[in-house]
Amino acid sequence: MSEGMTQGKDYLVTGGAGFIGSNFIRYLYQNVEGIRVRVLDKLTYSGNLANLFEFEGRNGFEFLKGDICDEAMVRKAMDGVDVVVNFAAEVSVDRSIDDPQSFLKTDIVGVYTLLQQARKMPGLKRFIQISTDEVYGHILEGSFHEASELKPRNPYAASKLGGERLAYSFFETYGVPVVITRASNNYGPYAYPEKVIPLFITNLFDGGTVPVFGAGRQIRDWLYVEDHCRAIRLLVDSGVNGEVYNVGGSQECENIDLTRKLLVLMGKDERSIKFVQDRPGHDMRYSLDSSKLLRLGWQPAYDLDKGLQATVEWYRANEAWWRPLKDKLDPRYSKGFWGEKGAK
Ligand SMILES: NC(=O)c1ccc[n+]([C@@H]2O[C@H](COP(=O)([O-])OP(=O)(O)OC[C@H]3O[C@@H](n4cnc5c(N)ncnc54)[C@H](O)[C@@H]3O)[C@@H](O)[C@H]2O)c1
Repeated sequence: MSEGMTQGKDYLVTGGAGFIGSNFIRYLYQNVEGIRVRVLDKLTYSGNLANLFEFEGRNGFEFLKGDICDEAMVRKAMDGVDVVVNFAAEVSVDRSIDDPQSFLKTDIVGVYTLLQQARKMPGLKRFIQISTDEVYGHILEGSFHEASELKPRNPYAASKLGGERLAYSFFETYGVPVVITRASNNYGPYAYPEKVIPLFITNLFDGGTVPVFGAGRQIRDWLYVEDHCRAIRLLVDSGVNGEVYNVGGSQECENIDLTRKLLVLMGKDERSIKFVQDRPGHDMRYSLDSSKLLRLGWQPAYDLDKGLQATVEWYRANEAWWRPLKDKLDPRYSKGFWGEKGAK
């Protein structure tokens, strides 16, 4: 069904060749009449043109290969658009611990470059900065709300916080129509196979084991990607400039329980689990209070069981998509990124 009233029809989706960005474009073309989408993406390891093939020839679809840190490219990409949704980022926590520099560049300087251009566009209707619940750090009890203290605990989270606060400052200082989202862990179709859920699913398809960090007691709140996309669309139309919105799936689960759910769905048993060395500074629990967004009328449509089933089915049907990515994946992901249990 097509959505009615809308803030804008001409979108720039940065990072649109990645996991959430490409799902968002699909959501737009399926749900918003007359939408036009331009993508700016650098095609890093996780950016994948195969995520975009189906949009070739769709109304106004255009792909630009380029970096959000490149001023001239950003000027070209933002020309004539009403709405910018910035997904482009270096994303992996493990990679950021290994090598933080590229995270500072894309997740802070890249956001700055987009915002500088946005300042020069009085007709811009919305600038959505996609942030993350990781900017809060972790919480052992209760849930984070938008005014909670911000204590990021790894270089990825700290860089994302830098980017989103810069966006907020451009709203306060220059009136750029910024709305910020902080989402919990996304899963679903087109997630790069280094992420825990597709990594485990594809390892199990191949008859391998699944590497569980530590004792698997960390808690994550899982959000099906389509629910996230619907929230972003709602915020383009109904968000308040300068505001932050948590987007949580309200599906908290210990990693070990998530693993067991996947084992059951795939007809495997606990012999497929391999406990491996934990990540340094591993956040113990994330939990979001999303009532601000719920008050705008958003509700997640997927609980974890329904979402996992849909995800397993998608990976089962789309081996041609994930196999080439899996073949190139750093073997540390499958073995345990930080080594064997007890490694220093
Ligand atoms: N995956 C999650 O669970 C999650 C949760 C909350 C928030 N987020 C945020 O959502 C956004 C998208 O995450 P994702 O999981 O889809 O990541 P992803 O790695 O799949 O996609 C990121 C995309 O950005 C592109 N990119 C990277 N650097 C770029 C640059 N300098 N210029 C242009 N393009 C560049 C990549 O090529 C890729 O296509 C990120 O901003 C991330 O912080 C993700």
